[in-house]
Amino acid sequence: MPSVLIINGPNLNLLGTRQPEVYGSTTLADVESMCREAAERLGLDVAFVQSNHEGALIDAIHAAKGSHDAIVLNAGAYTHTSVALMDAIASVELPVVEVHLSNIHARESFRHQSYIAPVAIGQISGFGPKGYLMALDALAERLLKT
Ligand code: DQA
Repeated sequence: MPSVLIINGPNLNLLGTRQPEVYGSTTLADVESMCREAAERLGLDVAFVQSNHEGALIDAIHAAKGSHDAIVLNAGAYTHTSVALMDAIASVELPVVEVHLSNIHARESFRHQSYIAPVAIGQISGFGPKGYLMALDALAERLLKT
């Protein structure tokens, strides 16, 4: 069964209480159980990692090569700053779907740039927690197509 690693970056551990007017009231644990349910239905294995540290996120991306078939990545604010994350994704050559709960293009201009987008197969932004499910759906189609 294809395996997808779902990586969440800085401050996403606070989901549910962090700026609920922007990010909603769903917690990261809720997102995880929604993803597990969807993955089971889609025929995917899923694993989760969250870190507030750039280097730990890079290590998780490196470790995914060989143990997972694809990545769903919400890199939080590192999306807009991290050439190192971009290079890590390019190095492992795994399909990555970039996810954001909020619509980064409708917010401050510094959020419009993504270092992840050029190395991702696609970006889902603005659909709240559903974005993670949309990403899994897209990956299932890609990984399970015969
Ligand atoms: C975010 C958007 C980023 O700009 C922000 O720094 C986050 C969350 C989102 O999911 O909407 O931490 O990635």
